[in-house]
Amino acid sequence: MTLPKIPLVAVLGSPIAHSKSPMLHGAWLKQLGLKGHYIPIDVSIDDLPDVLKMLPKMGFVGANVTIPHKQAVMSLAESISDRAAIIGAANTLTFRDSGGFFADNTDGFGFIENIRQSEPDWQPNAGPALVLGAGGASRAILAALLDVGVPEIILSNRTRARADQLRDDFGARVTVVDWVKVPSYIEGALTLVNTTSLGMEGKADLTLNLDGLRPETLVTDIVYTPLETTLLKTAKAAGCKTVDGLGMLIYQAVPGFERWFGQRPIVDDSIRHLLLS
Ligand code: ATR
Repeated sequence: MTLPKIPLVAVLGSPIAHSKSPMLHGAWLKQLGLKGHYIPIDVSIDDLPDVLKMLPKMGFVGANVTIPHKQAVMSLAESISDRAAIIGAANTLTFRDSGGFFADNTDGFGFIENIRQSEPDWQPNAGPALVLGAGGASRAILAALLDVGVPEIILSNRTRARADQLRDDFGARVTVVDWVKVPSYIEGALTLVNTTSLGMEGKADLTLNLDGLRPETLVTDIVYTPLETTLLKTAKAAGCKTVDGLGMLIYQAVPGFERWFGQRPIVDDSIRHLLLS
């Protein structure tokens, strides 16, 4: 009698010790009573191609990739999802029988799903979004916002050239404004997103004049340490709906888990608390 194989999944990055993904996937496996293991592996850029060739031979069915490998896996993939191609980076890999892998990007899905689950009345197509930051997270978020029908994205970044590059990549619905001019665009925004690292524990705070903020505006932050950033605190005080960044981390993990382990995981308060502990 041959026993069924126990699926193995890795998260590849460097450094990787801080990753919350093993805790998240481990908790879901336990909660659903599924057999499987999710293992963090520190991989250097030089070793990445060899590691990706070896993993399927070792019983791995997939992998998450994080900094600094999200772009590098794109040229190593056998096939790529449309959304990963648009973003130019992948975070969720699925190995195929051929030994190659399919590369997908679920960051944008995680971003949208997080907002939808906590604020189901959010109407992204009802008005412009103001997006702060033009790094990797911003790329995924722009793609996702455009995909759900945001009519216009006002994009601003401390280094304007990075925002201009995103506008060139994502097209006419994106307008770039100077970082110092952001306060004058707050009032017109129906969705306000911080994709910068400002406000994170140990980093500078996002010091932005939010006087124009209207209560209709939904404000969300990808920073989740602390859970309630100064931006979210100020927005809440202005009567806005706010969505913290922890849910994006959780929801981006859902499609991969379902693909690799065969069941859709449950996102509930116990998972949130676990990740905060
Ligand atoms: P990620 O992939 O997580 O988005 P990143 O590519 O390093 O990370 O981008 C970080 C974002 O935070 C960038 O938009 C960065 O602005 P720059 O492009 O000008 O560097 C922004 N950021 C970081 N520190 C900042 C600061 N002190 N003031 C303004 N923006 C800052």
